[in-house]
Amino acid sequence: MTETPAIDPTDLMWEYLKGFHAVHHMAIGNELGLFAKINEAGEGGRTPASLAADLDLHGLYVDVWCKTGYHYGLLEEGEAGCFVLAEMMDKLLVNAGDPRNLAPLISSTVNYGSDDLRTYAENFRTGGTHRFQEHGDDFSRHVGDSTAGFHTVVARRMLGGIPGLKGKLEAGAKVLDVGCGIGGLMMKVAQAWPNCECVGVDIDPHGVQQARAKVAASDVADRVTVEAVGSDGIGHDGEFDLAIMFEVLHEIDDGIRPDVIKDVAKSLKTGGVMFILDETYPSDLSGLRDPSYNFAVQTQFNELIWGNVVPTIEMQRELFAGAGLKEVAREPIGGIFTMLVAVKE
Ligand SMILES: C[S@@+](CC[C@H](N)C(=O)[O-])C[C@H]1O[C@@H](n2cnc3c(N)ncnc32)[C@H](O)[C@@H]1O
Repeated sequence: MTETPAIDPTDLMWEYLKGFHAVHHMAIGNELGLFAKINEAGEGGRTPASLAADLDLHGLYVDVWCKTGYHYGLLEEGEAGCFVLAEMMDKLLVNAGDPRNLAPLISSTVNYGSDDLRTYAENFRTGGTHRFQEHGDDFSRHVGDSTAGFHTVVARRMLGGIPGLKGKLEAGAKVLDVGCGIGGLMMKVAQAWPNCECVGVDIDPHGVQQARAKVAASDVADRVTVEAVGSDGIGHDGEFDLAIMFEVLHEIDDGIRPDVIKDVAKSLKTGGVMFILDETYPSDLSGLRDPSYNFAVQTQFNELIWGNVVPTIEMQRELFAGAGLKEVAREPIGGIFTMLVAVKE
């Protein structure tokens, strides 16, 4: 039997409504630079009037935004009518590059998630989709910005921590970034491991175009290339020491997913490593209320319209088995992702 949630049902509804508004409050604060200005002021904080004057905004709007932010626990009281950022809010909302920074995710939820969700009722009737790749240039950039905070951690700490891989990366491994998007992760890999060569592949023309421009303007242009993939697949055979997929496995159309994973495995050398960081969907009802699956459950709902099916552990294992890959590590990361490491046998 399913347990009744501990929270009063009426309170639960009000909390959800509050969450909707809090997300928009944060997106506005990010867009207008309000959090950044308060952060710059440090312990002294800022008055609403000085923020409004500095950012050329309406006084009453900023005053109410500050008070609401205090109500939400995003801001705290400073001295003499000033507001300061609450604990951790510099990391969560301001510091780009911090893996905990949620500002790009908050902005894309408001800017793109809302538009997607408004079409849900119609899509529930028709089963229609509006795929990731159909959203356009700006969307692909927003997604790349949302994942960027994690790229350094993945490139240095996580890949370097896989037994046996650090030596190969130092010596100069050939790395395939499957679903490279706008290219941030493979560039970080190339920067972290100066002897490595990276090839990024993606089916999203917007991502591929931006990745090519970013790589061309970077200090790793001689070691990183970007390839568009189509229905004929990745087109490499036994070439790579490592294949990485960050936030990609659940994005691959489940109708072709077994073939894509086989294709990635084919591109690896024997003994090559597949590294995946992605969501795992709960396998049963108890998992749906287990907080460690929060992000996976939310992603599955938000991304229904992109045609995505977030795989369960059983589905992930079947994919590996079907592609001749042996799972050697599985670890929950930050209560959000699962890290999966598999080796080509
Ligand atoms: C959430 S984005 C992640 C992008 C990138 N890895 C990052 O860290 O920003 C997922 C990417 O997977 C790509 N993708 C989906 N199916 C794919 C496939 N069959 N082959 C290659 N890329 C694919 C999408 O186009 C998209 O760019």
